[in-house]
Amino acid sequence: MKKVTLLFIALLVVATLSAQKFSGLAKTPPMGWNSWNKFACNIDEKMIREIADAMVANGYKDAGYEYIVIDDCWHGQRDSLGFIHPDPVRFPSGIRALADYVHSKGLKFGIYSDAGTQTCGGKPGSLGHEYQDAIAYASWGVDYLKYDWCNTENVNPIGAYTTMRNALFSAGRPILFSMCEWGNSKPWMWAAEVGHMWRTTGDIYNCFDCEVNHGTWKAWGAMKILDMSENLRQYAAPGHWNDLDMLEVGNGMPANEDRAHFTMWCMVASPLIMGHDLRNASKQTLEILTNRDAISINQDSLGVAGFRYATRDSVHVWCKPLKNGEWAVTFLNRGTKAVSFEFDWKSEAIADPLLGYKLDTKATTFSWVDIWNKKLTGTTKDKLKCLISGHDAVLLKLSAKPKKK
Ligand code: GLA
Repeated sequence: MKKVTLLFIALLVVATLSAQKFSGLAKTPPMGWNSWNKFACNIDEKMIREIADAMVANGYKDAGYEYIVIDDCWHGQRDSLGFIHPDPVRFPSGIRALADYVHSKGLKFGIYSDAGTQTCGGKPGSLGHEYQDAIAYASWGVDYLKYDWCNTENVNPIGAYTTMRNALFSAGRPILFSMCEWGNSKPWMWAAEVGHMWRTTGDIYNCFDCEVNHGTWKAWGAMKILDMSENLRQYAAPGHWNDLDMLEVGNGMPANEDRAHFTMWCMVASPLIMGHDLRNASKQTLEILTNRDAISINQDSLGVAGFRYATRDSVHVWCKPLKNGEWAVTFLNRGTKAVSFEFDWKSEAIADPLLGYKLDTKATTFSWVDIWNKKLTGTTKDKLKCLISGHDAVLLKLSAKPKKK
């Protein structure tokens, strides 16, 4: 008996010491949908099933979106042994059945918890129940865990997130670990071996450039989040990404602002987690979110986040090196007025300040295509002239022009 106990303890120690994050996940920024931005706590299994249906029927899945994630408020109570159960009224069939349904659509399923005593919505948190919760998630068929940071007084973030990482690993089912601690403890400095993505800021708010003060915390418009995350590009790479928060595309901003927001999330290789109602989005919203070329810039396998190359009055010029020597270049108009913009490729010296990639238009002529308006094309031999509406972005993809034989 003694021997068995000792063996068990030894195995546990070995398992804990050898715990790691699941490798092979998030080789490109994760893509999916999350319930919070649109529905907050108003979620139930019928709606989530309908969202999964719409993800497939409306073409999001074909465009690359994969995860259906239920955020806060799916929880019921813990039982006498401490195991968590879903809200029996909102999720009467149980989470396993819901995950099975999502899987039957060829999609993956994600869930939400919190490193503290309670979630931000006041539901049971995972503190002290990490291993139990990880076992429950694995047994339900969960593929993705978003792990929040409310009610964590006196909790050490590195310890808390590493504990949940280890718990997930020992439960054995590969689960993508999405860390949501709002950038408080600079997770980009320590979490490459812990999570697959980490939030860089507090919550996004559905506006272009505003901020909303809630007293103890602030919510941020898309451009504010972009600015706050600007110096973090060196920390993003295949397997671990800067998460600029879930998308607000389709939640009420005008199309130009949605387009600029989406363009920039593609440029900085943020996860693309949609946050609108997939069942009844407008044609414009669908066109923005399923633009294959914009998505391919986000998903480029080089895995390099873009950088701001220049600021010309209200226009910010962003560049992202892509595989095979290609580049994405964005002209983001932060102002409200349309700008007639000129860019003489030959007189620019675009170089990645961190990684040394060079967009050398003197040595190589590139052809470009305007991704939001495919009819517009050109080459870097000629000066670029374009009209950029207020709060909008022109997104170009540049490829080396094959030399004429
Ligand atoms: C925090 C997170 C949000 C969302 C809510 C849920 O604010 O940052 O993304 O998960 O909690 O309560």
